[in-house]
Formats: sequence, structure tokens, C-alpha cells
Amino acid sequence: MSTNGRYDTPADGGQYSVKDDTSPDGETSNAAHSANDLWQAFAASAGNAALRVVLTLAFALLVIVVLGQVSGIPAEAASMAASASSPPVDASSAQAASDDAATLASLPLSPIALSHPPQAADLASLRRGAAMFSTYCLACHAAGRVRFGQLRALGFSDAEIAATLNPSGAPLSGAMHAAMPAASAEKAFGRVPPDLSLAVREKGSAWLYTYLRSFYVDPNARMGANNVLVPDVAMPNVLAGLQGEQNAIFVRATQNASNTAEQTRKFVRFEAVAPGSMSAPAYDQAVAELVAYMAWMADPQSVERRRLGPWVVGFLVLFSFCGWGLMRSYWRQQP
Ligand code: HEC
Repeated sequence: MSTNGRYDTPADGGQYSVKDDTSPDGETSNAAHSANDLWQAFAASAGNAALRVVLTLAFALLVIVVLGQVSGIPAEAASMAASASSPPVDASSAQAASDDAATLASLPLSPIALSHPPQAADLASLRRGAAMFSTYCLACHAAGRVRFGQLRALGFSDAEIAATLNPSGAPLSGAMHAAMPAASAEKAFGRVPPDLSLAVREKGSAWLYTYLRSFYVDPNARMGANNVLVPDVAMPNVLAGLQGEQNAIFVRATQNASNTAEQTRKFVRFEAVAPGSMSAPAYDQAVAELVAYMAWMADPQSVERRRLGPWVVGFLVLFSFCGWGLMRSYWRQQP
């Protein structure tokens, strides 16, 4: 008979009846007893296994999200420290002074180390990056996978988008096309500037951050500028007004790989020749924000995802506790 309880109880109203739990006499000993039994019942039950799985999953998710949030920081810090010190120079730098500039320039450039951008993914940084991209990049490059209206996700109003971010006056539903037609760009630069929607996925943030800080004055280059990351680059140094002009110092380096001595040109450091409107740290920060915005362009859902993440994890944790409570109440009257 189970008229007064949730469980079917033996006809004699034995230990399963709810009456046992609520009877005033012997309540404490019953409670202690049943708590002990409860855990044994838990350990033996399949329900406990399911509960463990749910709790473990929720915990693992929590750990993944927390690690995801912080993991960037130590790596960034380490690489920033590394990029702050100038790259190592081998013994051959002693002969740099005697190097003939012309022969040095003809040597192949050995690859340079990439610098990682500092964190700049908050909305204010992304907004500044968006403004910079529209001002300095959209003239030549398209970002055809992104529509102007999507900039609302960064907190821009339609009026702001029209006034400052959309130089071509395209409709909000329109894709970000380059202001300069591809044919004229090819005529001017010899190459068509690539679409930058997915540049971060293709190259990585560190590559772009390094690229945009590595232009130097080169009178022999078609556009008067070259880049230590992309030798003989066709892109002009469009950010020179902000960064200022810099020369690049190279040395001759000899690489002894598998017994073949090969001469290369090794980048040592930059030397400022004309100041820009920004200090070096301010320029680095601005470029980091520009690259963060380009990362957003490659994955425009990221802002929404990051906003939702804590709620989802919170729900899972809450749900786990509810499940646990429910399980407890199911097994409460187990002997
Ligand atoms: C005046 C036109 C012009 C402007 C403005 C311009 N670029 Fe470029 N960009 C080019 C051209 C031309 C190339 C092709 C260079 C090459 O292939 O050598 C290029 C190439 C690139 C590449 C690819 C480099 C490679 O080797 O893969 C990236 C990334 C890039 N630009 C980023 C930017 C960013 C970011 C801005 C805005 C700050 C910008 N560009 C502004 C003309 C421009």
C-alpha cells in the first residue's frame, strides 16, 4: 500500500513506508542510519554511475572553459618577453661592417621569429580594430565574407557604421568589398591584394602581427617599402604614418646545414629613421587590436559564443546539482 508515500510498500507497512521517516520517535537514529545506507545504495546503483558521468562531464567542461580563457596568457607573456629582447646574432655579425650592401641585399633572407600580439579581444579593442581596418585596409583589400551589418555585434550602431566604417557607402547587408577595383590594384602593385576575411585562419595572428610591424624603407622596392617577413612584398607601408619609418639592419650569416655552407641574410633589428604619430607601444597595441578584429572577421560568432559560454556552463553545473538532488530523493528510502 502506498497511499501515504511515493513508493510501493509491502502490505505490512514495513521499512519502506514514508511513515518511518516522519515518525517523531527514533527520528535521529533513523536519519543517521539511512544517510549511511543511502551512500551504500548510491555506490551500488547504476544511478550513481550516471550521476558521476554527468558531474564529471560538467566539471570537465568547466575546466576546459576556464583553461581556454587563461591559456593564451602565459604563452603571450613568454613570447612578448622573447620578442622584447633582440634576436640572437651569430659570430658572423662581426663582419657586418665590411659587408657590401649590394651583395648583402641579394642574399636570401633567413626566416624571422614571429612575435605574438598582446591580448586585445575585448569589445572596445575590437571596435578600434574595426575602425582601423576600415580606414587603412579596405581601400585595397576586401573582406568579402563579412557584411557591414555584422559590425552591430561589436556594439556599433547603424549610424556609426555608415559614418565611419563603410567608406564605400555599401548597404548594411552588403559585403565588405575593396574600394579599389582589382584591375587597377593589379596595375598599381603588380598583384591583387588578397581578400582578408580569413587571413587570420590562413596565417595566424602572430604572423599578421609580425607582418604589420616589419615594414622597412627600401629604395629599391617598387613601393619604397619592403618587409622582413615577406621579402619583396608588393604592399606599400600603409601604416607608416602611425608607426614611422624604419630601416632594417641585416648581417651575413653562414648556415652549415649538412656540410654545405650557405650564405644568407639575417635580420638583426630595426632602426627608426622618422617618427610616426604613435609611440612604439601604442603602435603595437593598435596593431594587436587590428589583428584581433581580423580574427573576429574570420569567426564573427566568437563574441556571441563567449557571451553565452558562462551561462551554458552555469546551467550545466546547476543541472548537475538538480540531477544529484533528484537522485538523492529517489534513493532516500533504500534500506
Ligand atoms: C594600397 C593598397 C593596400 C592597402 C591600403 C593595404 N594593403 Fe595589404 N596588400 C596589398 C597588396 C598589393 C598585397 C599583395 C602583396 C604581395 O603579394 O606581395 C597585400 C598583401 C597583404 C597581405 C598578405 C601578405 C602575404 O604575403 O600573404 C596581408 C595580410 C595584408 N596585405 C594586410 C593588410 C592590412 C591589415 C592592411 C591595413 C592595415 C592592408 N593590407 C592595407 C595592398 C594594400
